[in-house]
Amino acid sequence: MTQEERFEQRIAQETAIEPQDWMPDAYRKTLIRQIGQHAHSEIVGMLPEGNWITRAPTLRRKAILLAKVQDEAGHGLYLYSAAETLGCAREDIYQKMLDGRMKYSSIFNYPTLSWADIGVIGWLVDGAAIVNQVALCRTSYGPYARAMVKICKEESFHLRFSRGWLERLGNGTDVSGQKMQQAIDKLWRFTAELFDADEIDIALSEEGIAVDPRTLRAAWEAEVFAGINEATLNVPQEQAYRTGGKKGLHTEHLGPMLAEMQYLQRVLPGQQW
Ligand SMILES: [Fe+2]
Ligand SMILES: [Fe+2]
Repeated sequence: MTQEERFEQRIAQETAIEPQDWMPDAYRKTLIRQIGQHAHSEIVGMLPEGNWITRAPTLRRKAILLAKVQDEAGHGLYLYSAAETLGCAREDIYQKMLDGRMKYSSIFNYPTLSWADIGVIGWLVDGAAIVNQVALCRTSYGPYARAMVKICKEESFHLRFSRGWLERLGNGTDVSGQKMQQAIDKLWRFTAELFDADEIDIALSEEGIAVDPRTLRAAWEAEVFAGINEATLNVPQEQAYRTGGKKGLHTEHLGPMLAEMQYLQRVLPGQQW
């Protein structure tokens, strides 16, 4: 049996591919791209939430938010480690992010201007993360699948955190309900991108590396719409429409975030950590 045949057989039998196994170059390349994009989304997602650590109401809530943001840093690091097992340097991947050449979902860099935005962004994004990442626990590449198992456990806590705020503020006062509805209406347009599939996503799903995101929308809607309704809020009538993150076309909010991420490198050029 040739190495190509052995590889195809393992994929067909759903036996994990491990770092020491032979794999086609195209598989390795698309996997690095997928894991890198995923890792960047985790890291970028820390920034809008991180801004609220000092402003969260009460010390206990600051500590909870801090733990959530640290979880996202951990998710990014597990994923960079999984990408390293494919032979690429961690520096290469995150240098792309620091240079602004990264691709990730743009909803993660939308500024969170009120505490309502924290609850809503979590509810929309963590809901999508769960449906996507539960499916990724069965991905064909072993280190990626194992990272996803750990990430999913933490992500389900994040979803409970967001659900708590969705219900508490949605069913709270008139003002808190209005703020939540405004946050949903504002962030809604970015949700289309979470279920966008380009030709690389389709190739990835054929290889068993990732799931075709278009197939996940119905499960996400069932969970997310139910939560919004229970919080006596409304799902916007308008179609979600903003896409482009997977092509590296991000919003105007990328600039200030890059400045924050590049700060350390600019102050201490050439430093290692
Ligand atoms: Fe995460
Ligand atoms: Fe999360």
